[in-house]
Amino acid sequence: MTSATAAAVARQTNDLDAFWLPFTPNRAFKRAPRLIARAKNMHYFTPDGRAVLDGLAGLWCSNAGHNRDPIVAAIREQAAELDYSAAFHFAHPKSFELASRVAALAPADLNRVFFCNSGSEAVDTALKIALAYHNVRGEGARTRLIGRERGYQGVGFGGISVGGIVNNRKFFGSLLTGVDHLPATYNREQQAFTKGEPQWGAHLADELERIVTLHSASTIAAVIVEPMAGSTGVLPPPKGYLERLRAICDKHGILLIFDEVITGFGRLGHAFAAERYGVTPDLLCFAKGVNSGAVPMGGVIAREGVYNAFMHGPEHAIELFHGYTYSAHPLACAAALAALDLYRDEHLFARAKRLEPLYAEAAMTLKGLPGVLDVRTVGIAAGVDLAPRPGAPGERGYEAMERAFHDEDLVVRISGDTLAIAPPLIVSEAEIGEIFEKVGRVIRVVA
Ligand SMILES: Cc1ncc(COP(=O)(O)O)c(C=O)c1O
Repeated sequence: MTSATAAAVARQTNDLDAFWLPFTPNRAFKRAPRLIARAKNMHYFTPDGRAVLDGLAGLWCSNAGHNRDPIVAAIREQAAELDYSAAFHFAHPKSFELASRVAALAPADLNRVFFCNSGSEAVDTALKIALAYHNVRGEGARTRLIGRERGYQGVGFGGISVGGIVNNRKFFGSLLTGVDHLPATYNREQQAFTKGEPQWGAHLADELERIVTLHSASTIAAVIVEPMAGSTGVLPPPKGYLERLRAICDKHGILLIFDEVITGFGRLGHAFAAERYGVTPDLLCFAKGVNSGAVPMGGVIAREGVYNAFMHGPEHAIELFHGYTYSAHPLACAAALAALDLYRDEHLFARAKRLEPLYAEAAMTLKGLPGVLDVRTVGIAAGVDLAPRPGAPGERGYEAMERAFHDEDLVVRISGDTLAIAPPLIVSEAEIGEIFEKVGRVIRVVA
C-alpha cells in the first residue's frame, strides 16, 4: 500500500459518513457530533478529555457506574479463558451460575432463566414463550397479545407490535396480527408533579376486561407492560394498577409479562419492580443492568410452572425451538456475575431506595421553570415534560439535550420534548444536586 493510499484508508476509517446511527438524527449529529471516548464511574470523557456527568446510566444500563474495575477484570479474564462455546446442545459453567443468581433475585417462583442479547430479544423471547406455552398445553387458540399505548418493548417485530409508540410502528408495515392495546396510564390533569406512583389511574387496568369481552379470553395469550414506562418519559404505575392487571389475568388464564429491561437491577430501589409492587408476573424480561451495560445481554425469567409446561415428550427432543448463537455468551455472563457482586457488596439497590426521596426533591426543583409542564419521579428516575415549541415538536427537547452536553457537561435522554434523567445508582447526593442544577439552567436557556 502506498503511503497516499494508507492515508486515504485512515481518513476513510475516521469518516463520520459510514456509520448510520440508531435512533439519532444522523445529519444533525454529524454536523455537531457528541463523541465519548472513555468513561469511569459517574463520568464520560470526550476525545479532548472533557469530563461529562452521566445523567442516564449509559442508556438506562450502567447501574453500577462505568468501567468498574471488577467488571473490567472479569471480562478480561473470561476472554482469556473461554471466548465462546456453542450455545445450543452445550453450555459453559458460568451460564448456570448466572441463571441461579438472577433467579435468586427474582420473587416467588420466577426461577427459570432464558438468555438472549438485548431487551428487544428478551421481549420477543417472552412473547414466543407465551404463545408456545398455551400451544403445548392444548390452548393453541390463545394467540392474541396485548400491549399498552406509550409502551416501549424494543424494536423487534414482536416488540413494536405490542409497543405503543407511533413512530416505532407506522413505517414498518402490518406488524403482528391479533394485537390489541391497553390505554396509557398517564393523565397530566390528574397526575402532574407526582412523586412516585400516582393515586389516580388504577381503574385503567379494567380496560383489560373490556378487551377480554371483545376478543374472548380463549384467544388471548399474554399481556405485556413495563411496570414503569421508561422510554416514553418515566410513567410510574398508578397505585393498585399492576395488582388489578394481575387479578384480571389470573381470572382469565392470561399470562402477565413484565418488561423490566429498565426497571430491573435496582432502578426502582429493588432488584425488580415486581418486588417493589408485590406483583409477580409469569414472565419477566431483563437486559441492560444485568451486567451494568458492559456486554450485550438480555433474558427472560419464567415461573416454574411455565417452564414445566414444556418439559414433556421424548428427552432427546428440543422443548422450545428458540435461542440465539450468543445466548449466555461467556463474556456477558462473566460481566454479569461481577456486576451482581457489586450490586450486592455496595448495596446499590437499597441505596437507590434510600436516595429516592432526595432524588425526587431535587427533581421537583424544576417545577415552575419556564415551559415545564410536568415532573415525574420514581426510584432513581425522573421525567420532565417541556412544552413543545409551536409547530416544532421535539425541537426544544433536542436543543436541551445538545445544550446539556456541550454547555453543561451532562448527558440526559430525550424523547420528543420530554427529558429523562436516570444516573448510575452510585450517584452521590452532591451529584444529584449538580445534575438538576444543570438541567434547570438548560431548561431556562431553551425556554
Ligand atoms: C422497557 C424496554 N424494553 C425493551 C427495550 C429494548 O432493549 P434493547 O435496546 O436492548 O433491545 C428497552 C430499551 O430501552 C426498554 O426500555
